Amino acid sequence: MYQLTGKRILLGVTGGIAAYKAAVLLRLLQQHGAVVRVVMTRNACEFITPLTMQALSGKPVHTELLDLETESAMGHIDLARWADLVLIAPASANFIARYSNGFAEDLLSTLCLATSSPVMLAPAMNQQMWLNAATQENLKKIIARGIAVIGPAEGDQACGENGPGRMIEPEEIASLAAKSFETNILSGSRLLVTAGPTREAIDPVRFISNRSSGRMGYAVAMAAVEAGAEVSLISGPVNLSAPDRAELINVTSAAEMYSAVMQKISTTDIFISAAAVADYSLDTIAEQKIKKSSDSYELSLQKNPDILAEVAALNSAPFTVGFAAETENLELNAQTKLRSKKLDMIAANQVGEDLGFDSEMNALTVFWGAEHKQLQKASKTRLARTLITLIADQYNEKNINKTH
Ligand code: C5P
Repeated sequence: MYQLTGKRILLGVTGGIAAYKAAVLLRLLQQHGAVVRVVMTRNACEFITPLTMQALSGKPVHTELLDLETESAMGHIDLARWADLVLIAPASANFIARYSNGFAEDLLSTLCLATSSPVMLAPAMNQQMWLNAATQENLKKIIARGIAVIGPAEGDQACGENGPGRMIEPEEIASLAAKSFETNILSGSRLLVTAGPTREAIDPVRFISNRSSGRMGYAVAMAAVEAGAEVSLISGPVNLSAPDRAELINVTSAAEMYSAVMQKISTTDIFISAAAVADYSLDTIAEQKIKKSSDSYELSLQKNPDILAEVAALNSAPFTVGFAAETENLELNAQTKLRSKKLDMIAANQVGEDLGFDSEMNALTVFWGAEHKQLQKASKTRLARTLITLIADQYNEKNINKTH
């Protein structure tokens, strides 16, 4: 089964007897590493209680569009932005009808209009309702808009009839949800990502470091795995688990990161430097813990090698992507770095409240050649997927140009 590590799934539950299976589905998605938030329609609450879903998800269940309390905690637009995937299971005939017509009179249908994330529906209804021309026309409309419809299955129904309309089993839904994240845009390519902070030792117990959580780099590694690349991840000290299908190389200091990168670089097609590498390290690391004595203490620092710039300067440099975290003059600083370090691409983010370092959300402006693209505020996993698509486009274009 494909993994869902770190994926944010908004599970929409609508009113139908199959709603009881949504509890099992929620558990399965979580077991595969997804973070799940649940939205239920009023009808769904007649079949399974929000309390059940709340206890299982460990998060408040959202049911109302115009609820002052929930809107102030996480409003419907935030929820729509939060999701990497909106999965509606079961999706009733009524919901499909409302969705196909673009209604926004309850929370779930509003979310579906407000999200730019992929939406997947697992229909469940009586076989006559499924076969009804109205339902079939509604389905055609939403499929034409790029919505994935999974199932239904045929067989015995809760109403005693037999035919198409049964929701496919939770195991299959979870597996298809995971598979929906897989593409092959980078299959056959070898990708090296650095992530996280580095630590520059002062003495055996102290170090200099930064606020990087490693989330962006890990999300990029995951997105690259899903794009079919062979991925190695060189990581500074973080509290994250690496994607299952990536090779993980742990390092601590910038010097260690430098040698780990250089060891791998000759077999790398694409290098993405998402790590917040320390620019300086100590001239000498004290062998014993430094004692508190004088009123002031000076540390003498030396410049670390710029791993990214050195990789980009290699004769047979891979396609090289840098990151630029800036607190001011984002565009100018990023473009200067793109040129001075001779990079193929740079992803720049403004460090600020709720964005960038140590945050789950980010917003990026990506620069390459004379072009740029703005990626709006979103979860790091979603941004990473868009970034990997941009990288794949430019990398493939560069390769085509090379061979002509
Ligand atoms: O110049 P600046 O440090 O802001 O550039 C940031 C980019 O350079 C990031 O991609 C970071 O991973 C990389 N970098 C590096 N080695 C350093 C410092 C930064 O690879 N010593």
